[in-house]
Amino acid sequence: MNSLAEFIAAIDRMGELRRIAAPVRVDLELCEIADRVMKMADGGPALLFENPVLPDGSRSQYPVAINLFGSMRRMALSLGVHALDEHAARITELLNVQVPEGILGKLSLLPKLFEVAKFPPRVSSGLAPCQEIVQRGDEIDLRTLPIITCWPKDGGPYITLPMVISKDPKRGIRNVGMYRVQYLGPRSLAMHWQRHKVGAAHWREMSERGEVMPVCIALGGDPASIYSASAPLPPNIDEFLFAGFLRREPVRLAKAVTCDLEVPAEADFVIEGYIDPREPLVTEGPFGDHTGFYSEADLYPQVHVTALTMRREPIYPTTIVGKPPMEDYYLGHATERIFLPLLKLTIPEIVDYHMPAEGIFHNLVFVSIDKQYPGQAYKVMNALWGQGLMSLAKVLVIVDKDVNVQNPQEAWWVALNNIDPQRDARFTMGPIDVLDHSSRAFTYGSKMGLDATRKFPEEGFTRNWPELIEMDQKTRERVNGMWKGLGL
Ligand SMILES: Cc1cc2nc3c(=O)[nH]c(=O)nc-3n(C[C@H](O)[C@H](O)[C@H](O)COP(=O)(O)O)c2cc1C
Repeated sequence: MNSLAEFIAAIDRMGELRRIAAPVRVDLELCEIADRVMKMADGGPALLFENPVLPDGSRSQYPVAINLFGSMRRMALSLGVHALDEHAARITELLNVQVPEGILGKLSLLPKLFEVAKFPPRVSSGLAPCQEIVQRGDEIDLRTLPIITCWPKDGGPYITLPMVISKDPKRGIRNVGMYRVQYLGPRSLAMHWQRHKVGAAHWREMSERGEVMPVCIALGGDPASIYSASAPLPPNIDEFLFAGFLRREPVRLAKAVTCDLEVPAEADFVIEGYIDPREPLVTEGPFGDHTGFYSEADLYPQVHVTALTMRREPIYPTTIVGKPPMEDYYLGHATERIFLPLLKLTIPEIVDYHMPAEGIFHNLVFVSIDKQYPGQAYKVMNALWGQGLMSLAKVLVIVDKDVNVQNPQEAWWVALNNIDPQRDARFTMGPIDVLDHSSRAFTYGSKMGLDATRKFPEEGFTRNWPELIEMDQKTRERVNGMWKGLGL
């Protein structure tokens, strides 16, 4: 899939799109409708608002799409698979490459290597769809975009599903991050990249150099690129390369018209601009956040807009966050599935992990492990707390390999049975998610690990461990035979 329009057409063919012709205000109304839909079983349908009404009462020229990624089926569709684990399997295969013996064996590796070589993004010449219309300077008025105001106490309208593009000034590596952007004025925005994120690191670097930082905010385009902006890749990996891997086809890029960055050629809109580190920060927020609570206003850099480019018939993509479950649960779930093999690479005893919706990613992670020696649950906790954005996880619950952590009820049932709270809970300190309102200090606080695995004698457990209740096979088969006749 190359574009947002193609993705929406595919969702429509699947029967999961609802078009809304009624005029709906982008100020709060659209959020209330989307919230009710996202709370429906399995995430509700994707919505295409054909007649959004702008804050000044006029009809928007552009339709608004929301909840496009908000079901397991649509999330898989966006990444070109039937089940997200298919990408995990592709990554596992790449990581398992062992150079075979003999020239013929070695030659058999070539197709795999060629496949990997296909993925890097390509800058193409010629007119990029995202630049069919180009506005510069005074021509730009961001009020023409259907930027939504989500919740009553939000600081203003927010762009909520962006790909924010920046470059590491030292190494030239691109980053694409999904960071909400607040509308401040017709050519002015506030950039909410949190301190643990790669875009913020680029900005700190540029500030130290005292250099003006170019930044582009792309909206729409191919769905794998949109998802990749939300993926917690290490800073040295370009998200568009990752998107190319997921799409099995490179992302086509175009040179931005007013700054030295490349943008996805198939995007629906691109806002180009810069941040001047010599300028004071601006107030961003409050914002009704994915914790289900309002995040307080804070200081963030201001983006000055130098160009607004777009397709001739663009669609404006957005999302809302708030009390879970929301659309972002499915984006996060894709990350959970796709990154499992990468976690296993450094922590091989991990069998599976799961971040349930109510844990909003960083608050709760269930992890099942193949425990072979005493203390291994603590080893896994320490390793996870030392790993990228997993370092922000507040509560880790470690269980044995036979527990299905994809089912939180099962995971809690076993974990709560297995723990002696005083013996099995451990506290440590570390960085805490920017959005956490409970920690003793901003982004710094405690974490809890629960070792809910079966204990070894060396771990001080010398009593008998009980057996799990299960029916014997013979009885099961007899009941299977009579089941239909029971009329149950
Ligand atoms: C809908 C949505 C909104 C998000 N908003 C923000 C945000 O405003 N600020 C932020 O730092 N991260 C936000 N995130 C999380 C980042 O996108 C995520 O941590 C990503 O890995 C960041 O990319 P990076 O690792 O390249 O910095 C959001 C994620 C989603 C799915």
